[in-house]
Amino acid sequence: MSSEDRTVSQTTDGAEAGDTEGGRPKAAAGREDERPKAAAGREDGRPEAAPGTYLPGDLDREARLARMLRVDHAGEYGARRIYEGQLAVLGRSAAGPTIRHMHEQEAKHLETFERLIVENRVRPTALQPVWHIAGFALGAATALMGEKAAMACTVAVEEVIDEHYARQAEQLEEDQAALKETIETFRAEELEHRDIGLEHGAEETAGYEALSGAIKAGSRLAIWLSERF
Ligand SMILES: [Fe+2]
Ligand SMILES: [Fe+2]
Repeated sequence: MSSEDRTVSQTTDGAEAGDTEGGRPKAAAGREDERPKAAAGREDGRPEAAPGTYLPGDLDREARLARMLRVDHAGEYGARRIYEGQLAVLGRSAAGPTIRHMHEQEAKHLETFERLIVENRVRPTALQPVWHIAGFALGAATALMGEKAAMACTVAVEEVIDEHYARQAEQLEEDQAALKETIETFRAEELEHRDIGLEHGAEETAGYEALSGAIKAGSRLAIWLSERF
């Protein structure tokens, strides 16, 4: 008999002995002792939670907030990198100051979420190194296709971010008003970026629909991944 087998058989023997002799009465006595305490409830009048259970929504809410902050931090990080990629190509062109303005706003959005993930002890996405490269590459690649393609990229990304922030604002509860306000403020600025893109001829880009569709699909995938990983 190996030592592992012995461990298993001893455990089984012990359990049988407990059922027929000392185990049951002891467990019953333990429950009796705890019941009056549970029935008395908590000082705030809410019923005592059974051991090993959570009050409805407690954990979900915390997990939901962590997910929101993680994805928003990731998104703003990616957005800043996209504009950095665009600036690397178009920084000295006529579109330079416009792109720099959007880049500065993204940097502020990112700063805010950097603070919020630290305050709420939320780990950043594990995919940050990917967004570091992918964001810059997307910005630079579209900028290399021309100013209008860079603007088409901005419009596509900002439309997805707008949907995303609108959904989050809806999900936030009354006591999360500060975060809701932050998200609404940023959302308005993302829409301003979208409008800047449209004013700069985004839709005149050759193959606009295909380019826009591909960037939107990629952005939605990035959101999905950053919420989870
Ligand atoms: Fe942003
Ligand atoms: Fe933006």
